[in-house]
Amino acid sequence: MSNSDDLKKLAALRALELVVPGMRLGLGTGSTAKHFVDGLGEKCAAGLEVRCVPTSEETRKQAEGLNIPLVNLDELGGLDLTVDGADEMDACLSLIKGGGAALLREKIVAAASARMIVIADDSKLVECLGAFPLPVEVNMFAHETTAQMICEAISVNGLAGDVTLRGAESPVETDGGHYIYDCALGQIDDATSLSEEILNIPGVVEHGLFLGLATGAIIATESGLKEFGEL
Ligand code: A5P
Repeated sequence: MSNSDDLKKLAALRALELVVPGMRLGLGTGSTAKHFVDGLGEKCAAGLEVRCVPTSEETRKQAEGLNIPLVNLDELGGLDLTVDGADEMDACLSLIKGGGAALLREKIVAAASARMIVIADDSKLVECLGAFPLPVEVNMFAHETTAQMICEAISVNGLAGDVTLRGAESPVETDGGHYIYDCALGQIDDATSLSEEILNIPGVVEHGLFLGLATGAIIATESGLKEFGEL
């Protein structure tokens, strides 16, 4: 029997097969993406030439340690492929991300990428998004006021649930210098409407709903790999 980390690695190794010389790659964040970056490091050491953009300082450090060539996304102008994990994914490839607080850079990189492939173990596959608390990244200025507005946006969408500052007394600070509020909603029936409502709040920087960004997914199960969308 495989444990969850073995499954994450299996999905990551399959994604590595999608990498070809010369690609401009987005490197995800989290325990699944870490396996992909490890494998990419081995390929680079063996002579593979790629140019990569990390989605967090954590991934940057890992990639630098493996001598993976890193570049500025602005200089590249776009990416061919991004490989990243997810906290939840439904059958339409809609995602919740941000469990690792990297959602802002993850979304910028995914949006700049021709293809975004999700890698995960099957615990991330859900019928409806929302059991995983939705992360919302907010500006530090008057963040409690912004949190109140997030509660109102949730209520307007017919949803309810606790909205809590990540880290509480010692709030987690993102790579961009913002805070995260986690919204425990249970089930998000209309993710598009919720997304628009939350993004309309001035203090909100981004949220962890990734809608229409993933183009494919590799999900590892005990009985093998399942592929979704286009790889
Ligand atoms: C980082 O902010 C997240 O979006 C991660 O990609 C997500 O939490 C998946 O992480 P794991 O691969 O560690 O489950």
